[in-house]
Amino acid sequence: MNKNIILSKENIESLNEKFREADPVHLLKSLFHSDEDKIIFSSSMGAEDQVITDMLCSINSKVRIITLDTGRLFPETYAIIDETRKHYRIELEILFPDREEIEKMVKSKGINLFYESVENRRLCCYHRKIVPLKRVLTGMKAWITGIRKDQTLNRFNTRMLEWDETYQLVKINPLYRWTEKMVWDYIKKYQVPYNELHDKGFPSIGCQPCTRSVKPGDDPRSGRWWWEDQGHRECGLHIQ
Ligand code: ADX
Ligand code: SF4
Repeated sequence: MNKNIILSKENIESLNEKFREADPVHLLKSLFHSDEDKIIFSSSMGAEDQVITDMLCSINSKVRIITLDTGRLFPETYAIIDETRKHYRIELEILFPDREEIEKMVKSKGINLFYESVENRRLCCYHRKIVPLKRVLTGMKAWITGIRKDQTLNRFNTRMLEWDETYQLVKINPLYRWTEKMVWDYIKKYQVPYNELHDKGFPSIGCQPCTRSVKPGDDPRSGRWWWEDQGHRECGLHIQ
C-alpha cells in the first residue's frame, strides 16, 4: 500500500474522491505498494475476475487470489482454475467448505436442498461460500471483487471503494463502472483465458445446479437461481 494511503473506514470518501478518474490498473497499483498480504482478491473465475487477475499479474502484485470451491462447480470452471494457475504461474488458493457442516446439512435436507426453498438455498450458499470467505477475510484490510454496477439492481449503487460491515474491511471494486463490453474487449485484447461456458450461453457462472444458459439478449443473470423470484437472486456474498 502506498505510504500515504490508509485503507480504513474513515478514508473511504477521500479515497473515492482521489481515485475518481483512475482506471482499474492505476487504482490497484496505487493501493499496493506494501501490505499486500492484507489484501485478498476473490475470484469466481468469471470474465470480470479473469480481467482482474490479468491486471494483478501485469503489475506484479503479490495479492493473494482465492477461489471458493463449493464442491458443486462446473467441470469447465475447474478447467479454467487450472488453466489460470498455469497461464499466470500463480498460486491460487482454493477454499473448501467445512466438511462436517456440509455433511450435516445434506443429511437433514438433501443433496439438492436449494431447489426446495429460498431458505435452503441461502443455507447452502452460507455453508459453501460465505463461511469459507469469512474465514479467509478475517483480519484482512481489503477485499477485491469483480462486481459491476450494471450486473443487478442490488449492485447499482456499487462504488469503487466501500466499507464492508459484514467483513469489517475495505471492499475494492476496480471494474465497478465497466460494462460487459469493456470486460470482453479487454479479454480479447490481452488474450485472457476464460471459462469456455461463456461461449455457450453462460454470461454469469455460479454453481452447476444453480446456473443455466440464457438466450442472446436475455438478462445476463437470468440463468442464476432461475427458479426463484428476481429479488432473491444473490448468494449473500455481497449483501450486507
Ligand atoms: S454471486 O454473489 O452472484 O455468486 P457473482 O457470481 O456475481 O456473485 O460474482 C461477483 C463477485 O463475487 C466475483 O467477482 C468474485 O469477486 C466474488 N465471487 C463470486 N463467486 C465466487 C467464488 N466461487 N469464489 C471466489 N469469489 C467469488
Ligand atoms: Fe449451493 Fe447453489 Fe449456493 Fe452453490 S449456488 S452454494 S450449489 S445453493
